[in-house]
Amino acid sequence: MSARLEKLASEALGELSGASSMDAVLQLKTRYLGRKGEVASLLKELGSLSPEERKKAGEAINAVKARLEEAFDAKVAALEAGGRAERLQRERIDITLPGRTIRPGRMHPVTQVMEEIEEIFSGLGFDVAEGPEVELDYYNFEALNLPKDHPARDMQDTFYVSDEVLLRTHTSPVQIRVMEKERPPLRVIAPGTVYRRDSDITHTPMFHQVEGFMVDKGVTFSNLKGVLTHFLHSLFGDKTDIRFRPSFFPFTEPSAEIDIRCVICGGSGCRVCKGSGWLEILGAGMIHPEVFRSVKYDPEEFTGFAFGLGIERIAMLKFGIEDIRMFFENDLRFLRQF
Ligand code: DAH
Repeated sequence: MSARLEKLASEALGELSGASSMDAVLQLKTRYLGRKGEVASLLKELGSLSPEERKKAGEAINAVKARLEEAFDAKVAALEAGGRAERLQRERIDITLPGRTIRPGRMHPVTQVMEEIEEIFSGLGFDVAEGPEVELDYYNFEALNLPKDHPARDMQDTFYVSDEVLLRTHTSPVQIRVMEKERPPLRVIAPGTVYRRDSDITHTPMFHQVEGFMVDKGVTFSNLKGVLTHFLHSLFGDKTDIRFRPSFFPFTEPSAEIDIRCVICGGSGCRVCKGSGWLEILGAGMIHPEVFRSVKYDPEEFTGFAFGLGIERIAMLKFGIEDIRMFFENDLRFLRQF
């Protein structure tokens, strides 16, 4: 009996030390220590022995059983510890890595200037109106006193969709759309996107304008001067010099262009103002009687002024941006500065 016991023990321990997985260990444990295992079957044989021998053999078997149990427990513990160490290594996280910063979104500089302009005019009681970007020739040109053969149509290189449909070249058609629907008194600004076939460092085929107009009985050129002076002083600071120059637009008579003293060089002359010391900022004028007739207003009863300006140009001057294309390249290094 004791020889068989020794053999069993050394076999079991030998196999156990060769086992490398938890499954293999549990299988071996069942085979040696299970209810129907090798040790159990030795214990069953005890019944056939004399009481004396039974006691000795029983103690010997139990001693081997205890040794094996201890060995199995140790092996299981070792495998578990090894597994945990391996998993910790595999799932290791370097908590010293710097986190990723989440940057908040910002208003596009063009939107910022647009909103600033809206705010100044809403302080003067102007409403905000919008019109379609795909526009009829009639609203973009004809009703603004620009008949089909008018040479001033060449001032604006137009994207045509068809003979009668185009991408609006300015926000002035919103004047017509608003006046068709409403009666004076009117104080309205119309910000929006416009399109022209033009592209260089100061022109993009798509850009933004704000149109504005005021119509009532007795509106005069001095109202125009007062409103636009207040506007430019609010936008560029109230020390800014302003100059009104006679000009021509088909939809206004008289017409003016309005300049501010160059915000880059202060008037001494630079690249941006082309040496003149002045920057052209606004087109404006008294609304032409033909425009009133096209919306069935009586030009003897009502007068009004209108103006238009380019938002990108103003944003370029305010922020010192030299190339208009920067606005539309969506380069975050540029946009994050505003
Ligand atoms: N629509 C003109 C343009 O795009 C700007 C303009 C000039 C608008 C004079 C006006 C105005 O309302 O009175 O160049």
